[in-house]
Amino acid sequence: MNKLIRNRDFLSNRGGKLFIENVSAEFLARKFGTPIYVYSESRIRENSQRVKSALAAATENSQLFYAVKANNNLSILSILRSENLGADAAGPFEIELAQRAGFSKNKILYSGVFHSDEELKFGLKSGVAINLDSLSAAKRLLKFGKPSLFSMRVNPGISGGKIRGLIFAGSDAKFGESMTNTIAAYRLAKKRGVKKFGLHAMTGSCVLDENYFAAITEKLLMIANTIQKKTGVKFKFIDIGGGLGIPYRTNEKILNVEKAMKLAAKVFAAGVAKFNLGNPKLMLEPGRFLVGDAGIILMKIQTIKAAAKTFIGVDAGMQTLLRPALYDAWHEILPANNLNAQNSKKISVVGPICENTDQFARNRLLPKLAEKDLLAILDTGAYGFGMASNYNTRAKPAEVLVSGEKAEMIREREGLNEIIGKQKVPKRLKK
Ligand SMILES: Cc1ncc(COP(=O)(O)O)c(C=O)c1O
Repeated sequence: MNKLIRNRDFLSNRGGKLFIENVSAEFLARKFGTPIYVYSESRIRENSQRVKSALAAATENSQLFYAVKANNNLSILSILRSENLGADAAGPFEIELAQRAGFSKNKILYSGVFHSDEELKFGLKSGVAINLDSLSAAKRLLKFGKPSLFSMRVNPGISGGKIRGLIFAGSDAKFGESMTNTIAAYRLAKKRGVKKFGLHAMTGSCVLDENYFAAITEKLLMIANTIQKKTGVKFKFIDIGGGLGIPYRTNEKILNVEKAMKLAAKVFAAGVAKFNLGNPKLMLEPGRFLVGDAGIILMKIQTIKAAAKTFIGVDAGMQTLLRPALYDAWHEILPANNLNAQNSKKISVVGPICENTDQFARNRLLPKLAEKDLLAILDTGAYGFGMASNYNTRAKPAEVLVSGEKAEMIREREGLNEIIGKQKVPKRLKK
């Protein structure tokens, strides 16, 4: 087994060739072309069963939701629905997507931010629980109707995660509401006759420290206590958000989910009793942990340029996977057709987009590579395809689901017609 494939059992090195479950990367590239996103069904199921049982073992009164924004492919949503998870939607279309994938409305949460009036009306009409992130949204929602449950996203001031763009709480974060405004929002909802309440926070993504989840739970319970004391509302749920991290680098620690859930549940039980909070459910809405390491991108080397540095030009780019260009995120890159080759040279792996941020790796130690070699970028199952774009008029790639020996296309590669989609050219501009 190649050392780079640590802890990802669904990937294997068979005689130097990368296999995803029982399908070779070379076969997938030949059959579906490159670049492609490939997902392992067994890994998604394994990840979700792991979090689900860790949470259930830690506390009976809990519920797990999948953050749809991490990967909104309908087949992946269907897998997670069949694992009995709920769905956390970021907007109206994600509510609809979850419904199309078969999630019932009591298993859909709507945690959008900076909602428009239309979005709030849609949320109300669909009857799902909504986490609101401002007093403004609360006032408007209560004007449009009376939700069966009212929940606010607070900004608790503490966060985890190391990437600046993935810190969602504290004074620089646009997310969540202040305590004063949150209390005002619950008062308004109570006055409007709402009887059921929840409390929400989502403070940071890709956290590998188990203690963080207990810390955020403790903080939220203290906030719940203050709100309960000031307004008299009792909470049906306390939702601590997502944030369970995966190790993108081989030397990063692996999150012990069981320990993280145990610590959080212990703090939860103690806080609920201490503050006399009734019997709220502990809710969690991870995205990255469930699908992140289950996805890889296969891409082919097109051009090798020996300039001041050696640039390896591939057929995927920042339009395929934005994370490296967006926040300098690190993804492991493997030579999928030559896994046993020794690293020998520092090279940069770049895409075909006219931006110099279009680089998957800069000065990375990799083996000697040749044009037409197949490369794999690991851990691209979350925030991968969802952030893909048509920049430089490039097609979004195909997505393929692997399950044992089976490899099924779950999204076709785009053509020009899909890219230009809804464009219209006024008659006067036509030749
Ligand atoms: C409201 C909300 N919940 C859950 C998540 C999922 O986070 P993660 O993928 O870190 O688990 C996000 C991610 O941005 C989010 O904004």
